Amino acid sequence: MHLLAKTFVKTGHLRIREDSIRSNKTLFHDRAVTNKSVIPLRATCFSAIGTPLPHIEQAACIYLDYNGTTPIFPEVAEAMRPFLVQHGNPSSSHKFGRECNMAVQKARQQVASLINCHPHEVYFTSCGTESDNWAIVGTVMAARRRSNAPSFMAHVVTSQVEHPAVLECLKHLQQQGLATYTAIPVDHTGTVDPLEVEAAIISSTVLVTIMHSNNEVGTIQPISEVAAVVKGLRGDSNGDLNRQQQGTGSSILFHTDAAQSLGKVQVDVRALDVDMATIVGHKFGAPKGVAALYIRDGVEISSFFLGGGQEGGRRAGTENVLLLAGFGRAAELAVQEREALTEHMQRLRDDLQDQLCRALPQEAYLVNGPSSPSQRLPNTLSISIKGLDSPRLLAVLADELAATAGAACHVPGYTHISSVLAAMDVPVEYAAGTLRLSVGRHTTQEEVDAAVGLILREIAAQGLPLRLPSLTA
Ligand SMILES: Cc1ncc(COP(=O)(O)O)c(C=O)c1O
Repeated sequence: MHLLAKTFVKTGHLRIREDSIRSNKTLFHDRAVTNKSVIPLRATCFSAIGTPLPHIEQAACIYLDYNGTTPIFPEVAEAMRPFLVQHGNPSSSHKFGRECNMAVQKARQQVASLINCHPHEVYFTSCGTESDNWAIVGTVMAARRRSNAPSFMAHVVTSQVEHPAVLECLKHLQQQGLATYTAIPVDHTGTVDPLEVEAAIISSTVLVTIMHSNNEVGTIQPISEVAAVVKGLRGDSNGDLNRQQQGTGSSILFHTDAAQSLGKVQVDVRALDVDMATIVGHKFGAPKGVAALYIRDGVEISSFFLGGGQEGGRRAGTENVLLLAGFGRAAELAVQEREALTEHMQRLRDDLQDQLCRALPQEAYLVNGPSSPSQRLPNTLSISIKGLDSPRLLAVLADELAATAGAACHVPGYTHISSVLAAMDVPVEYAAGTLRLSVGRHTTQEEVDAAVGLILREIAAQGLPLRLPSLTA
């Protein structure tokens, strides 16, 4: 019997026939590829939203960690396949180079369409961490260069719930004596108040960096409101950044880390009015190790990578054509499937939440993040269960359910909860029992049902009360 089906039977939560899972699977069949410049494909996929991936079926481990990373979507793998063998340096003018260069430019166009900017405003990088670091260090170093005072101490405003790619970078700059920063607090839903941003800005502030959405709890930040604050303070209603940046050195740039948002909700950099945005491929179906930084026309920041003239001379290094082909295709899919995908994820996430909440006594849990759907990522459920040892639960289920906890470490007498939950003031007895469950394009209803059964079984095994104990019988 299919292992997933066995799980259902074992948990007794939902009776499901093996063939109902099989009938919903991704279909593969052989097809020859006519284009002579690419290798023949052994298989072509007919994958769609809500179809399980073939290798997931084999693994029989339910994947609810889409915020950690997504699988490479079958269509994306297919777009990359030719470049496993097709070689050529995109900077070379011969046929091999030109073909690779065309693939890079196609990917740039596809990513630009996803975020609504010009292709030349998209700069490819190796990961989200690089994009975040570049936006921050590049802005600080450029401001220091522009200010004629060698002792100029740049200041950055951020929030307490940012990813370590932002917070650790800022800590480092502060330790090196290159910048100071203010991390503003958030409310109990994890939301930043634009007025707090305004209050934190001082005369030496050169950058505000606030994430578009949070990776742990899914809170979507009021980015256009923060942009309005920043723009109001720098007084450039005509958006003439060059003039501002070259003037006193006191202009303020606004960066948003949109790593978790792309492929889940719309991110339109023009409508949001941001100067820079981080985009990360492996959060929406592309492989790991490829990302981008959107830099608005006219914004000047220093470069990290010096060498050849790639990426408009701002980020040297031969482009990774293979990964970029996948990144571009994933961006294109995200545009094509935008509404259907959001609807699919939200339906499953809401169902996951409803099933867990219905089974737990009301005072036993907290759902983290805003309750309004427009203020929370449609795929993310962060639930904190009082008295639960969530790392232990996940360790017991490690071969059956892939998810993450909100507590970094939990030993008797010492619980270190995540900085995001701490900033949101989630009481420690709840925070230590946090599960982050994130669904995605290939999650199925059957997986959600099975995951609920497994989680409830382990909650009961830890001696915690359930409203419907028969679920785990
Ligand atoms: C919000 C956010 N920013 C940045 C990153 C870093 O991206 P990468 O792992 O590609 O460096 C992540 C990855 O989890 C993230 O969730």
